[in-house]
Amino acid sequence: MSTQVFETMESNVRSYSRSFPVVFNKAKGSYLYADNGNAYIDFLMGAGALNYGHNNEYIKQQLLAYMADDSIMQGLDMFTIAKGDFISSFNDLLLKPKGLQYKFQFCGPTGTNAIEAALKLARNYTKRSNVIAFMGAYHGLSQGSLALTSNQYHRQVAGVGLHNVTFLPFENGGPAGLDSLSYFEMMLEDTHSGIEKPAAVILESVQAEGGVNVASAEWLRSLKQICEKHGILFISDDIQIGCGRSGDFFSFEQAGIVPDIVVLSKSLSGYGLPMAMLLIKPELDIWQPGEHNGTFRGYQLAFIGGKAALEFRRDTGLEAAVKQKAIYIERFLKEELAAADERIVIRGRGLMWGIDLSSFEDPLLAKKVAQQSFEDKLIVECVGRHDKVIKLLPALTIEETTLNQALDILQRNINANIRSRASRKAALA
Ligand SMILES: Cc1ncc(COP(=O)(O)O)c(C=O)c1O
Repeated sequence: MSTQVFETMESNVRSYSRSFPVVFNKAKGSYLYADNGNAYIDFLMGAGALNYGHNNEYIKQQLLAYMADDSIMQGLDMFTIAKGDFISSFNDLLLKPKGLQYKFQFCGPTGTNAIEAALKLARNYTKRSNVIAFMGAYHGLSQGSLALTSNQYHRQVAGVGLHNVTFLPFENGGPAGLDSLSYFEMMLEDTHSGIEKPAAVILESVQAEGGVNVASAEWLRSLKQICEKHGILFISDDIQIGCGRSGDFFSFEQAGIVPDIVVLSKSLSGYGLPMAMLLIKPELDIWQPGEHNGTFRGYQLAFIGGKAALEFRRDTGLEAAVKQKAIYIERFLKEELAAADERIVIRGRGLMWGIDLSSFEDPLLAKKVAQQSFEDKLIVECVGRHDKVIKLLPALTIEETTLNQALDILQRNINANIRSRASRKAALA
């Protein structure tokens, strides 16, 4: 199929198709297939919606069986077997073993809708309007979530003021020595700070779109302590880094903290089906019936996929496998790929990694590497300030050979674009 129909008829707002301008047709595991037969290794994975790989066989069989049986597909938020089974499985397989107690709120099926719900709840519970977000954050593009998203490119089209949010630098997000948590405490304690006490703090413990910026466990614990001391709710946006991407199911587990609200979407349904929910501490559940309503708050297939994904995770030992792959990929990136030049900076956790090329003179270097990698049949995205960070988001189920092929493509294209340390030394000699 020609790309013309999209280029002429689809709104200019389309984005990913500009970086990967071929027509895709099929997908399996870590591969996307274009209609001309080309196979691409997918390191974008539906921007984090496909942690279990494309068309995961186990999950697919559960979905097919559910549909074959004429089971209910649209149930609004009524009681259904699919929803009941999902809640019970999530509780039994994840929450209980981790000692977590949360109530489930199913939202409209996008991440941004769940963020809107979290904001409403936090503001109504605390009777405060201001919220703390972090520079580099991406929480979605509807009005409330856009106010929490820091990128000017997205904010400038809001058309209305984006208020009631105060941004702080993320950990290591400012000049050396800048301690945003001390500043936050000062804001809260100084009666002349001029900043309203916030309802909540919201953060991604690894900022994904912001450039793969990783918060340390210590920093997260300190932030949580400040929140507790001042009665501020702690909201973990686990939409992209959650569902096993960090190694654990939840990104905050490593820090040993328990957020007041957890926001999940993307890979929650296991199969790329739209689904979003909040986990809320029971005492925060002050909602009145239907206050955050929506037709698609209960896409039954997503419940089936979500339950199957948890079974798949348990039965295949996925968590341990992700932790092993994380060690492998970190070693390769830091010891081999970054060894080519001291200006290459590597950041990441679990199976989300960033290759930061912002220290190079060429502002388009990361883009060029991504573009050349696409020509070499690897799909990889650029994120962060001015898109200078290459974000690696493989399927959690990726096979070692495929992982190696993708890493080789990246290494080759980075090396081809930079003057290596050795050649610069030779030039200076
Ligand atoms: C951390 C995070 N929060 C929120 C969102 C918004 O989710 P959605 O695009 O489904 O509205 C995203 C999407 O990329 C995200 O990565």
